[in-house]
Amino acid sequence: MRNFSAITVLTALVLVAFTLSGSAQNRVVVRADQPGAKIDKAIYGHFAEHLGHCIYGGIYVGENSDIPNVKGFRSDVTGALKDLSVPLIRWPGGCFADTYHWMDGIGPKEQRPSIINVHWGGVTENNSFGTHEFLDFCELVGADAYVNLNVGSGTVREAAEWIEYVTSTNESPMTSLRKKNGREKPWNVKYWAVGNETWGCGGNMRPEYYADLYRNYATFMRAPGMYKIASGANVEDYKWTEVMMREATRWMNGLSVHYYTVPGTWQSKGSATDFNELAWFNTLQKTLKMDTLVTKHSAIMDKYDPKKRVGLLVDEWGSWYNVEPGTNPGFLYQQNTLRDALIAGINLNIFNNHADRVRMSNIAQMINVLQAVILTKEKEMVLTPTYYVFKLYKVHQDGTMLPIEVKCNQYTLEGKSLDAVNASASLKNGIVSITLCNLDPNNTQQISFEIAGLTPSKVSGKVVTASKINAYNDFGKKAEVMEADYKNVKISNGKVDAVLPSKSVVLIQLQ
Ligand code: AHR
Repeated sequence: MRNFSAITVLTALVLVAFTLSGSAQNRVVVRADQPGAKIDKAIYGHFAEHLGHCIYGGIYVGENSDIPNVKGFRSDVTGALKDLSVPLIRWPGGCFADTYHWMDGIGPKEQRPSIINVHWGGVTENNSFGTHEFLDFCELVGADAYVNLNVGSGTVREAAEWIEYVTSTNESPMTSLRKKNGREKPWNVKYWAVGNETWGCGGNMRPEYYADLYRNYATFMRAPGMYKIASGANVEDYKWTEVMMREATRWMNGLSVHYYTVPGTWQSKGSATDFNELAWFNTLQKTLKMDTLVTKHSAIMDKYDPKKRVGLLVDEWGSWYNVEPGTNPGFLYQQNTLRDALIAGINLNIFNNHADRVRMSNIAQMINVLQAVILTKEKEMVLTPTYYVFKLYKVHQDGTMLPIEVKCNQYTLEGKSLDAVNASASLKNGIVSITLCNLDPNNTQQISFEIAGLTPSKVSGKVVTASKINAYNDFGKKAEVMEADYKNVKISNGKVDAVLPSKSVVLIQLQ
């Protein structure tokens, strides 16, 4: 009996070794000998709007809260965001930005006027989280700030004064006001956007009209080193990009585009947690559309800006499902499953691969809203599957993009097919980092790698996966989806072979 067990174990070991060294189904070539553009760390940016419990409850609980905090900012959330090396946070919206008058959010809190948050649930916004709070929070997290100006219901003067209040070192009424409100030194804010979704909630404008308005605003936005961002297209509105580039390239540093992954229709988007394999397939297929969008918008930008000075900024992306049953429909609160981990991994791979033009992206949204990296409920905090993907991918921040060729199996369902493997790679500090998604929920993917220009001798890895496609992390329960060490990769004679688990996001690092 003992002999039989030994033989069985030996056979199993031989089989595992064979699986790792046998002929691979998929082939990935990483061109470490042809380094591409820098992957701007801002691609790993986040979006935080005055919407539902993103700001209030998620980031800010006030100094008198019994939830542990520093100056009113939740300590648990701040710590978790620091661990992600969040490089950038966009604020205050979103649609909210074009209703926001910044002077309502400065000075003694008890004197700040309230407004109605007309876009998001019609709730009262007491403005206790304003410019100082946002910029202090960014400093606490170690993130750059990205401020979205109000164009829809604001004025050029209001925008110019906000910029002066935040950034100026000179003596002026605005800087005196800032100092009176407790901030002597200016903040270093580089990124400023002129309105949000100006084709929709930001004013229902035509691109010809907005292009002129943008030029008007941009003329009076004055601060050293500013990165001026024009509000860009809705999904595949290529005419918008064409008109903006034709009329306003000279005055902009970045042009945005927004695209959300909605599994169903806008009327019936689908559940965040209760879905079948067909919904998984359709959702990932819709996520892959990001590649087409970025490619086509970039091609238009190339016509007017062949040197790629202007960045394409995907400053809103992520999954958008039906809200969780029983929650305020205006608060856009949704759970986050392994499917969202794949959505994040695929999108971030696409942005890395287009790093020559894509210089920023902002997941919508950071906390408690849409595809959040963190969920909170009173004192409790949950790190979502999306959080762990951002943790794996942070190695790409400010790395050099390495071109990658993927020849892979198809993931087929009901007669429709997708590439089963989606990937990107970068080089930083002599380490090649490859991030891979296996979209197939039923089959592992055996991959043989060629790393042109490098003969690796050391390998390590991390993986995010779970046993079910709709596994998620919930309050008061053990996390079902988190990062783990990844061992199914080996180097032999400089050749790298790996096996990706089904439905997984994997990081492989080589040196
Ligand atoms: O992220 C939620 C909303 O989606 C934003 O406020 C708006 O810009 C977009 O339509």
